[in-house]
Amino acid sequence: MEAGNTKRVYIQEVAPRDGFQIEPTFVPTEEKIKLINRLSRTGLAKIEATSFTSPKAIPNLRDAETVMQQIERVPGVVYAVLVPNAKGCERALACKVDEINMVVSASEGHNLANVRMTRTQSLAQFGEILKVARGSGVFLNASLATTFGCPFDGWTPEKQVLELVERFLEMGIQGVSLCDTTGMANPRQVSRLCEQVKTRWPEIPFTLHLHNTRGMGLSNVVAGLDAGIQRFDAALGGLGGCLFAPGATGNVCTEDVAHMLGQMGCDTGVDLDLLIAAAQDVPRLVGHEVPGQVMKAGKADRRYPRPEGAAKARA
Ligand code: COA
Ligand code: ZN
Repeated sequence: MEAGNTKRVYIQEVAPRDGFQIEPTFVPTEEKIKLINRLSRTGLAKIEATSFTSPKAIPNLRDAETVMQQIERVPGVVYAVLVPNAKGCERALACKVDEINMVVSASEGHNLANVRMTRTQSLAQFGEILKVARGSGVFLNASLATTFGCPFDGWTPEKQVLELVERFLEMGIQGVSLCDTTGMANPRQVSRLCEQVKTRWPEIPFTLHLHNTRGMGLSNVVAGLDAGIQRFDAALGGLGGCLFAPGATGNVCTEDVAHMLGQMGCDTGVDLDLLIAAAQDVPRLVGHEVPGQVMKAGKADRRYPRPEGAAKARA
């Protein structure tokens, strides 16, 4: 999928789901809708708009139906949602989503904390979800949380990840997201795993879902890119986090990822200025500062007039 030197990379926005789910205050429904509509016009490939989870587990996204029904669906943008079980899938299909994203953790500890099921129970639940989704034409993606490491169970053995990916594909799942839920992965680890999955399953669209919890996020994007990954989840302003993992913080930041990839000569398809303008509105939406850097520093090609005193060299 490379044209000349330009590598096509797909940026997938997750702030409306991964971001808003963890905010201390509820982002009003109409603000969510406005933001998604705005993001739909920035050239992003996909937007994870909400999740159809239990409103007791994720109260911030209790407005999933209204959000999905009232956003403007821009052709060419894929509108995905996270679903934890068959009930969530039914609700999602009723709203005519383009893609459902099922979730299981690679580690038992995080899976129990996140969805109150063992991994075996989650895979059985996947079977139920797939029964509901059959024939709907909706794209089926599975997210593998704690792919690289788990705050409860420690480092995740690669073999465990590969076996789960194999199970997903046998079940008829079409795309897989490798999620570094709590930002434990380092670039070497990301390269090693991504090279293995791309070699073994070259036709499957793999996404890297990275959190910048320990400052390794953008380095991990580059490691994944060099290993052949073309799809990256990211959250506007660097929002994001998991309610069920201690110390979890934001996703890699959408406009920072788009800026970096653009500077590296990749074709992301996004209008960076529109994205930065949208990001600058995020602190107002959530009521606090956000980690995004390019929204504060400006693009790398931003220039300033030389300071007055520097006009002449010192004699
Ligand atoms: N949508 C709406 N309501 C749901 C639901 C769904 N998808 N799934 C379950 N519920 C409701 C049930 O109807 C039940 O309601 P009631 O108490 O009024 O009878 C209640 O939630 C509990 O149902 P139960 O099946 O016992 O689920 P649980 O309490 O064990 O919770 C999950 C399991 C998976 C539904 C819940 O933990 C969840 O939604 N987790 C979200 C995880 C997530 O999104 N994490 C972040 C992303 S990685
Ligand atoms: Zn996440």
